[in-house]
Amino acid sequence: MSPQPQAAVGAPLSRVDGRLKVTGRAKYAAEHDVDGVVHAVVVDSSIGRGRVTGIDTRAALAQAGVLKVISHLNAPKLAYRENRSSNNPSGERLHVFQDDKVLFHGQPVAVVVATTLEAAQHAASLVQVHYDAEQPSTDLTKASAHDPVTYARGDTDKALQSAAVRLEMTYRAARNHHNPMEPHATIARWDGGQLTVWDKTQWVVGTQTELAAVFGVGLDSVRVISPFVGGGFGSGLRAWPHVTVAAVAAREVGRPVKLVLSRRQLYFGTGFRPAYEYQVRLGSDRRGRLTAMVHDIRAETSTYEDFQESILAAGQMLYSMPNVRQAYRTVPLDVNTPLYMRGPGYATASYVIESAMDELAHELGVDPIELRRRNEPADDESTGLPFSTRRLRECYTTGASEFGWHRRNPKPRSTSDGDWLIGTGMAAGVYDTLRNAAQAHVRLDADGTAVVEAATSDMGPGTYTSMTQVAADALGLSMRNVTFRLGDSLMPPTPPHGGSMTMASVGSAVQDGCDKLRQQAIKLAVEDEESPLYGVAPADVVVRGGRLHVKGTPARGETYQRLLSRNDRPHLEAAGAFAPPSGPERFSMYAYGATFAEVAVDARLGLVRVRRVLGVYDAGRIISPKLADSQALGGMVGGIGTALLEHTVTDHRDGRIVNANLADYLVAVNADVPDLRAIYLDGDDREADPIGVKGLGEVVHVGVAPAIANAVFHATGRRIRELPITAETLL
Ligand code: MOS
Repeated sequence: MSPQPQAAVGAPLSRVDGRLKVTGRAKYAAEHDVDGVVHAVVVDSSIGRGRVTGIDTRAALAQAGVLKVISHLNAPKLAYRENRSSNNPSGERLHVFQDDKVLFHGQPVAVVVATTLEAAQHAASLVQVHYDAEQPSTDLTKASAHDPVTYARGDTDKALQSAAVRLEMTYRAARNHHNPMEPHATIARWDGGQLTVWDKTQWVVGTQTELAAVFGVGLDSVRVISPFVGGGFGSGLRAWPHVTVAAVAAREVGRPVKLVLSRRQLYFGTGFRPAYEYQVRLGSDRRGRLTAMVHDIRAETSTYEDFQESILAAGQMLYSMPNVRQAYRTVPLDVNTPLYMRGPGYATASYVIESAMDELAHELGVDPIELRRRNEPADDESTGLPFSTRRLRECYTTGASEFGWHRRNPKPRSTSDGDWLIGTGMAAGVYDTLRNAAQAHVRLDADGTAVVEAATSDMGPGTYTSMTQVAADALGLSMRNVTFRLGDSLMPPTPPHGGSMTMASVGSAVQDGCDKLRQQAIKLAVEDEESPLYGVAPADVVVRGGRLHVKGTPARGETYQRLLSRNDRPHLEAAGAFAPPSGPERFSMYAYGATFAEVAVDARLGLVRVRRVLGVYDAGRIISPKLADSQALGGMVGGIGTALLEHTVTDHRDGRIVNANLADYLVAVNADVPDLRAIYLDGDDREADPIGVKGLGEVVHVGVAPAIANAVFHATGRRIRELPITAETLL
């Protein structure tokens, strides 16, 4: 097979769906026109734990337009079968309206369905729910934990005892909420036993399997449609209870039902990045070579599900050391279940490890980059596997030179600009290169245009565009002659659109399908006596601009259109597939980055302003540089939020989230986002997947918060071991 010229891949193209988005023609979950739709509004619990003792619906039902109020008192029993192909953690998911128990503040206890949104909202406010309230437990620092997940290598106690330098610190990271711009929303419609759902989801297949399991029906009875997603950051990786509520309501009233969660309801109606307490002890020799590290980790989960994430891997493989011991304890609380959020696990682990490395560098008087270089491993010490690619050293070198790292005075609190103390900090980042089985379907029509389909999502990274780029080059077509479609469970199945695995998995399946289709066309031509390519070896044919020709002899060839019409073929079709190699991995595969930050701190007011952030990434091949920047700068903005602003606050007296709105839950806005820059090391990791990518969207967030925290220390000489770093903690 002759390699195809790469024209679209690697080009800084704008989004193919950009016009649809800016003109409002891209339809998000709540915007689909479904005939006869009525509106549902959830009534959520005002207690944090206990029982519902009664529900008075008389005033609500008396309102004009109200069709029904559904609660555990009148809801149908649902199957709630186990769903193994989902992101449901171990335990048992919340069963909506199946009993009188309240497990957390904000749990759905009833839903009002009415012909207008206003009627449903007003009637929901009139539903009187009576409770038997108990004291909820929502404080991570006070509650007791599940048995730990553990890891150990070497003899950490002995190594710590004999270490020349020993440090012990406890770090805390606040709960963060995803807060996508588009609220979670579902429109559900039953046609007999057939359920169709328009949903905000990062995984139409996951929502399909979950609804089939909840309602006890076959997969064929559920179709999930989600062509556009207005941001996710992980919140759309499972089907939350409101999706079931919408489908129950639609079945009960016999009409299509639209349910949109309010901004407030997103804080307990969907997941969150759990709060952490993370104690670390480390030992090193005088030159800063690590000898041992102990990690004691506590994180929030709910009482009914045990949410765990990849918090341990970074501590096992980021740096070389013979002795590591880890214990990861989840703490069941009266809260809803957490879920993955930007750089899940790795972002929190890197905040702790990279802060600790900065503390060690300061203790030893060694440059933070030099300290990291001295601890760079030759292979993955958690598995003994070689790295597919690991270019963290180059990330440091390029970053240091582009950022001007060596101009810094290493002494903390040594630099100022007027009233502002100036500091710089850096941190390494790492994220697992995940891939999973994916399929795609390709059709080339006789008019020379192609349609490619896969059931994946596009929550913002630009999947429509990047897949079109891969397909265009593999088919030898221009971008405008290729249409990529996604977001429908009738399309070929794909893994969750998360964990930075979409490009590797779906992109590889798209390329496979397009390669197969191109080969079919080439075969048709070289075996066709009427084709100018008759008799040419297939390996000598390339396709460019929709025209097949002999490699190096562009004059000898013909277009797809001519070839197909002469052969009376209305179209050619091919199925593409990707699956990671079976059996144990032969390589350790991760994306890496180094983040550099400069901050200014007003020491009297405790204000922190980020002045600039630079990230340098080893993420394999970059399919779409312009979209990569959109990911990387977005990851930095999220990292600024985690470092300085984002903090979901719970009132432990009743388990209520007190800042469940975008006025009190602070995210970085334009004024918080200064000079951001991303650099990608030119790479191509063929061990990871056939298109050579290692995933980008998560690693760009990992490392931002510790770089900022380290810069705050450098500016002020004060080490804040708690995120977010706020004026209160700095003063
Ligand atoms: Mo990403 S947290 O897996 O959407």
